[in-house]
Amino acid sequence: MPTIKLSSGRTFPCETGTSILDAASQAGIALPYSCRTGRCSTCKARVVDGISRALREETGLSEQERAAGWILGCVRTAQSDLVLEAQEVVGVDLAAPRIWPCRVHGLERLAHDVLRVILRLAPNADFRFRPGQYVDILAPSGIRRSYSLANCDFAENLLELHIREVPDGAMSEYWFRRAKVNDLLRLHGPLGTFFLRETAGADVYFLATGTGIAPIRSMLGSMAQLPAAERARSVTVLWGGRHLPDLYLQATELPACDRFVPVLSRAEASWTGARGHVQDVLLASGAELRGAVVYACGSDAMIHGARTALCGAGVRPDRFYSDAFVSSGLN
Ligand SMILES: Cc1cc2nc3c(=O)[nH]c(=O)nc-3n(C[C@H](O)[C@H](O)[C@H](O)COP(=O)(O)OP(=O)(O)OC[C@H]3O[C@@H](n4cnc5c(N)ncnc54)[C@H](O)[C@@H]3O)c2cc1C
Ligand code: FES
Repeated sequence: MPTIKLSSGRTFPCETGTSILDAASQAGIALPYSCRTGRCSTCKARVVDGISRALREETGLSEQERAAGWILGCVRTAQSDLVLEAQEVVGVDLAAPRIWPCRVHGLERLAHDVLRVILRLAPNADFRFRPGQYVDILAPSGIRRSYSLANCDFAENLLELHIREVPDGAMSEYWFRRAKVNDLLRLHGPLGTFFLRETAGADVYFLATGTGIAPIRSMLGSMAQLPAAERARSVTVLWGGRHLPDLYLQATELPACDRFVPVLSRAEASWTGARGHVQDVLLASGAELRGAVVYACGSDAMIHGARTALCGAGVRPDRFYSDAFVSSGLN
């Protein structure tokens, strides 16, 4: 069986046909990941030596990246021993994902196209997650879709999701037309490596578009519970939508936030707040970004734009964390 060696020197076996991400996880090694479908590029790694094979299309890579030897570990397997230049998630105890039965406990419209879904797990469920992580919901029809957790603790065995309606979306059709309280579902989780890192004393910027505010609200909730010595120096949230009703939470629902900046890209003439894209508004504010920590969540376009713009303005690439809400269907 091929062996994979990482930049850190750690090695693990990878059976041909198993993704590099899964093989690492089976060996107790956590690599960064989000979508697991080759779309978001969070699991990007570079092949230094050896032969690998794509299990699915790597849509998250540009032609230049492919030519330079970059691969996406969630949809690549080893054909020979490999040496990989890859980041690892170290010093964090991540709960192993598993399947949990759950019921719909509550459904509430937050905006014309956003639903708050509360899920209830069994009273004895020992579900543990890190604020920022997501779960896959497995509907009885066999559809599986990813949704971030919007609450930060597991009080009363309840989990909160914020779900945006995607036109003609298979799972959207269930949530917005057929879902009712007490429906039985299953979830797989916790998943993903988008969670709070060490932020003591740092200026922290959260950038969201649409329902990308969900995991950020969860992270803010956990920041509010930190002892004073572990708190960030400042916490700024920039939340973007097209029109004001798209920003469906009030500032008071975002704990630990020192500065909340709503940003509208298609605002009515009467809007006196920030206009455009969240990353441009942050840049235009003149904030000192060297030493800042950025968490960005929402559309792929925002995340790509924000990474390029903010890292160009001094944010260290290893302090730019993101979760792209790319399509999670496997079709
Ligand atoms: C890690 C992760 C976390 C996510 N968290 C959330 C969340 O908290 N809240 C939330 O509302 N959504 C979230 N999503 C997106 C969600 O998983 C679904 O992809 C989305 O809700 C569409 O599912 P659907 O079955 O309704 O549409 P589908 O039937 O899957 O798609 C219908 C059509 O829309 C396109 N499409 C689907 N999703 C997108 C998209 N995001 N951008 C552009 N085109 C798309 C498809 O390609 C297809 O053509 C997350 C995705 C990922 C990968
Ligand atoms: S591309 Fe691999 S986790 Fe998204």
